[in-house]
Amino acid sequence: MGAANEVQVAKLPDAIRTRRLTLRKVRLEDADDVFSFACEDIWMRLLPDARQPYQRRDAERWVARRFLAPWRTEPTWAIEIDSRTVGWVGLNIEAEHAQAELSYAVRPDLRGQGLATEAVRAVVDRVFLDTQLGRVWGRVDPPNVASVRVLEKVGMQREAVMRRAFVRQGELIDLAVYGMLRTGWTPRSLDA
Ligand SMILES: CC(C)(COP(=O)(O)OP(=O)(O)OC[C@H]1O[C@@H](n2cnc3c(N)ncnc32)[C@H](O)[C@@H]1OP(=O)(O)O)[C@@H](O)C(=O)NCCC(=O)NCCS
Repeated sequence: MGAANEVQVAKLPDAIRTRRLTLRKVRLEDADDVFSFACEDIWMRLLPDARQPYQRRDAERWVARRFLAPWRTEPTWAIEIDSRTVGWVGLNIEAEHAQAELSYAVRPDLRGQGLATEAVRAVVDRVFLDTQLGRVWGRVDPPNVASVRVLEKVGMQREAVMRRAFVRQGELIDLAVYGMLRTGWTPRSLDA
């Protein structure tokens, strides 16, 4: 099972097109764009691997780590509009458990237009079409309503709340778990 998934995971495409977006493998040149929106954004600063104050070298480090990470376990797509990087979608794949965890962001001035939903939906579709993984899931801080909505709109269900599960700025917070099984999935980005 694990070995079969490893092979299948390697087939995730490094470029995905949707109606409005191009998703392509993150690259080192994305650091400027990532910094330009991440340094202004409270939520980005609260992500686990981000520090305060968020500096350009944090963006460089983040991009380099995502660029160098093995595609079969940690693929990261930059979200592009008109050749500008406006966000990203990443997966953390646990092939041995046949599942992948999602993370994503869109730059603040372009939010509320369905861009995250469009990008995440396309990645979820590729996971179920191109791999044998059986579950896609995400963890979210419940007050992050926009993120909760993205997960709900792509068809995920709230499965649990992990109480006091994450330390953020020295404070323990709850995390809600959202997930979708292959059996509950219908492709929705392919006619985009
Ligand atoms: C979460 C995030 C990616 C959403 O990006 P986006 O492109 O605006 O998402 P969409 O437009 O596809 O959907 C956002 C939804 O949240 C809703 N929303 C946004 N802010 C809201 C609020 N304060 N209260 C209620 N709903 C809200 C929008 O109305 C929309 O839902 P709708 O289509 O039902 O109206 C973006 O806010 C972001 O980058 N946040 C910082 C990083 C982050 O938190 N990532 C997730 C954790 S890994």
